[in-house]
Amino acid sequence: MTRKEDDPGLYFEAHVFVCTNQRSADDPRGCCQARGGVKLRNYLKRKAKMENIDGVRVNVAGCLDRCEFGPVMVIYPEGVWYRMDNEADVDEIVERHLKGGERVERLMLQPDEAAPDAG
Ligand code: FES
Repeated sequence: MTRKEDDPGLYFEAHVFVCTNQRSADDPRGCCQARGGVKLRNYLKRKAKMENIDGVRVNVAGCLDRCEFGPVMVIYPEGVWYRMDNEADVDEIVERHLKGGERVERLMLQPDEAAPDAG
């Protein structure tokens, strides 16, 4: 699906959805909340505010269906997905993607990427 020429302009320059969903402890896919999704989402929100980045909105999301990679986020309108393990990963995404307009290749998820073992 693509934007149409006469669609309204974007309300946010970047809209970031961070999964904080919780699944039961025995779910084989695991979940973002059990891997620190809430803490990292809160950190990202604080960081984006501290950095005073115009036009960026950080929202909590329910399950984004890429649980095995969690915690995950997706940034629109680019549609770029990232996994993140810690605050340093969040810092890098903020600095390079949200502020710099670059990509953090080492944390990006590809559409056809095979899920790691939930183990
Ligand atoms: S629990 Fe986060 S993507 Fe499903």
